[in-house]
Amino acid sequence: MALLQVENLRAYYKTEMYGVSRLVRAIDDVSLDLRPNEIYGVAGESSCGKTTLIKVLSGNIKPPLKVHGGSVKYRFKTAEVNMANVSDEELKGNVRWKEISYVMQGSMSVLNPVRRVIKTFEDIISTHEGIPNRKEFRERIKEHVKKLGLPPDVLNSYPHELSGGMRQRVAIALATVFYPSLIIADEPTTALDVVVQRGVLQLLKEIQGESKNTVLLVTHDMAVHANVADRVAIMYAGRLMEEAPSEIIFKRPEHPYTRHLISSLPVIGDKSIKNALEGSPPNLANPPEGCRFHPRCPLVMNICKTEVPEMRDLGGSHRAACHLLGGKS
Ligand SMILES: Nc1ncnc2c1ncn2[C@@H]1O[C@H](COP(=O)(O)OP(=O)(O)OP(=O)(O)O)[C@@H](O)[C@H]1O
Ligand SMILES: [Mg+2]
Repeated sequence: MALLQVENLRAYYKTEMYGVSRLVRAIDDVSLDLRPNEIYGVAGESSCGKTTLIKVLSGNIKPPLKVHGGSVKYRFKTAEVNMANVSDEELKGNVRWKEISYVMQGSMSVLNPVRRVIKTFEDIISTHEGIPNRKEFRERIKEHVKKLGLPPDVLNSYPHELSGGMRQRVAIALATVFYPSLIIADEPTTALDVVVQRGVLQLLKEIQGESKNTVLLVTHDMAVHANVADRVAIMYAGRLMEEAPSEIIFKRPEHPYTRHLISSLPVIGDKSIKNALEGSPPNLANPPEGCRFHPRCPLVMNICKTEVPEMRDLGGSHRAACHLLGGKS
């Protein structure tokens, strides 16, 4: 049974330029499921809609972003939540942090720069539980941080005193105080060097392995997905292009865009020159007809220019949207 079911989701930004209003189709007909106890990776180049998808899934929808169709439904252990009609109070009181936590792109945003880290923990926990006994409360936070392998003195630091890697780990520690059903992490390792990245990913993996919850890991870095994701979804220009278990997507990618992303991964000993894809992702205020990848696709056919390819089930939890895979499934 799925923890989250997303069906035909559309979410657009409304922009005004020179008095002309336009819709930026950042999420355009995306359907996917997240299962309990998995790390689900979302990949794709910059501007393909990854952060927008997370905003909608976590209920952080503010103008100019608006949902234009589809559904987002959660089945938590204690309740079912339909994001289309959940109240703000329900979202704040029972869903955010407790069931869904969100490590935002750029970990500084969750930490208050002028308060010690412990205060941010207290602020978040107290809005949900109150602080009955400050000493016990601080002990609990200390234990949590220690359990995740962080030195307890990070709690007394100000965010700017911590290294980028440590800040990111603190953000993850914060996101896990209530052991939520779903942890969403947006580019958690992007600003970090490779060695520090490994520590942050290890932490995410350990937490997931222990609490058996679901992690939605968003990053454009395919090497990160190869290391930690159980399943991977590939997005391009607001659409899902392919989805499969990790070992399948890296061994037998079907979509030309996925193949391009994977072929650009470095391989030890390979000295060949990588071919970059020509062009850049389309402007989502005016996306191309047909397959959105067709202007850059090395295997483009006539049909790709006019018809949107259907998502085709390839068996073994593998699906892809490409006319090369034939007609309707
Ligand atoms: N506030 C906004 N107003 C208008 N358009 C926006 C806004 N925020 C994002 N967009 C547009 O929506 C599209 C998707 O952006 P989004 O941030 O979701 O991409 P992303 O995949 O997370 O990119 P990155 O890898 O750079 O983080 C882009 O075309 C972007 O320009
Ligand atoms: Mg983003």
